[in-house]
Amino acid sequence: MTIHIGAEKGQIAETVLMPGDPYRAKWAAETFLTDAKLVNETRGMLGYTGTWNGHRVSIQGSGMGMPSLSIYANELIRDYGAKTLIRIGSCGAMQHRVKVRDIILAMTASTLSTPSSGIFKELNFAPCCDYGLLSAAAAAAKSLDVATHIGGIYSSDVFYDERPDLTEQMTRHGILGVEMEAAELYNLALRHGVRALAVLTVSDHLLTQDALPSADRERSFGDMVDIALKAAFA
Ligand code: HPA
Repeated sequence: MTIHIGAEKGQIAETVLMPGDPYRAKWAAETFLTDAKLVNETRGMLGYTGTWNGHRVSIQGSGMGMPSLSIYANELIRDYGAKTLIRIGSCGAMQHRVKVRDIILAMTASTLSTPSSGIFKELNFAPCCDYGLLSAAAAAAKSLDVATHIGGIYSSDVFYDERPDLTEQMTRHGILGVEMEAAELYNLALRHGVRALAVLTVSDHLLTQDALPSADRERSFGDMVDIALKAAFA
């Protein structure tokens, strides 16, 4: 057990999918895993372990934002020996060619700050994903025939952003979408020598104000989980 995860040592797999929403962890575990067992419910941040195609997998909620994700990712890596961490989550699109329901594979994650900013100080560190996971996820997405974009994203500290100028600059510099967790996941994975990737579903559009109707969410989120699992065990 750790401060924030109640699972016993050995109850968490080396491969962990991390949705922000603990109820999405429950849904993904019940939908995709065989023999999924609840291994954590501390603070309601549900975590499950089961198997997918014979491979042991855990699905653990991260909460919203980098400070919350940092707590879970640190404990998963340092105390439970997680070696592959894949964020599965939603994002807002920042390019016109990126549409609601599309998948984004985040090659890099730009930020204003992360919980690691205290270490990096004046350095503009470039958090990037694991290339092996990225190329396997790209192949998996191709086989599913789902519109997929690969490139940089923006990990924001705020959902209600009051800096339209910043959104404009991100869009101008080719950033595909905005979410709130990937940059710190990448920082931690690089620091500890483990693999990380963010596979994201576009749930809303910052330029057109389009949004995914709730009835369509499950199908779109399912593609993302499928891609993440195939990438993890390619
Ligand atoms: N901003 C930040 N995070 C998000 C968004 C957004 O518009 N959509 C989904 N996650």
